[in-house]
Amino acid sequence: MRVLSGIQPTGNLHLGNYLGAIRNWVKMQDEMDSESQCFFFLADMHSITVHEGREQRIRNVRDMAAALVAAGIDPDRSVLFNQARVPAHAELCWLLNGTARIGWLNRMTQFKDKAGKDREGASVGLFVYPVLQAADILLYQASHVPVGEDQKQHLELCRDIATKFNTDFGRDVFTLPAPIIPKESARIMSLRDGTAKMSKSDPSDLSRINLTDDDDAIMAKVKKAKSDQDMLPETAEGLAGRPEATNLVGILATMTGRTTDAVCAEFAGKGFGAFKPVLGEVLVETLRPIRERFLQLRTDDAMLDAILDKGAAKAAAAAEPTLRAAYDAMGLMR
Ligand code: TYM
Repeated sequence: MRVLSGIQPTGNLHLGNYLGAIRNWVKMQDEMDSESQCFFFLADMHSITVHEGREQRIRNVRDMAAALVAAGIDPDRSVLFNQARVPAHAELCWLLNGTARIGWLNRMTQFKDKAGKDREGASVGLFVYPVLQAADILLYQASHVPVGEDQKQHLELCRDIATKFNTDFGRDVFTLPAPIIPKESARIMSLRDGTAKMSKSDPSDLSRINLTDDDDAIMAKVKKAKSDQDMLPETAEGLAGRPEATNLVGILATMTGRTTDAVCAEFAGKGFGAFKPVLGEVLVETLRPIRERFLQLRTDDAMLDAILDKGAAKAAAAAEPTLRAAYDAMGLMR
């Protein structure tokens, strides 16, 4: 088994990233057998689609590396690196640009969301972003890709690109990857709007819980979270049509490893005044040790850079045979 996943080093790690993806990364790393390998990376080449100053970008990469280690990624067992250090990603992306179709990219909902109304003003990088993502995955012959629900379409595109490439060039150069999407926490929603995804780019900081939030901030955000006036139902069915309630119950269920039915049963007939302090406490207790490790790790840039150096060397060596096979299949002499 080859596990691979990535995260953009822009802004903070938030609860959506943690419950939708990172927690699964750690679990897969911890359950790995001796035949398997995990690759986790900071998608800094993807983050050029968001404008940021040089210093900020450097800080963001180190911070996200620190956050992943704090959340449980062990750089001795998993390969942890930043994409810009492994040029094979950009090279394979270019090769795959010959295979990917404009029509396929036109259907990507994330592009439509991020480009907004001004399509003509969006960067070319934002449009071909999913091709680079396909390269990230295919370079390592990844078999399993743990991600949140919002990446599902990009994973399907990756499979389409791999299939077409293998067929067009008559060789099985690429492995088809399977997305690993959690059942309960695939899509954590904003605390201000149960119909919008929790995201780094939401202008309201109250919409998300950041890994850097202290205990008081977490509790205050949970208390201010949008909910409704109704009581909690006996089963999860009764949450239908209540997006905020569904999200909050879902978060508590995920955090405590229970089903939403079990959480409803516990709070049946009670309101959010009773529910929120319990949810807040669970979040505070779970996130505190991660935050404390993160704050300590981020003070040691030399150590973080050393982790990324080592990871990049391992990743580059693992990527090289696939890149060579792709050039060779296409008849590109090097
Ligand atoms: P990114 O940086 O937006 O998010 C990182 C991971 O967090 C998940 N996620 C969520 N899960 C549940 N609820 C949410 N509200 C939520 N918000 C984010 C995402 O699904 C993702 O798994 N394009 C990717 C990065 C990437 C990548 C890759 C991933 C680049 N190359 C190759 C996998 C394989 C992205 O922007 O993720």
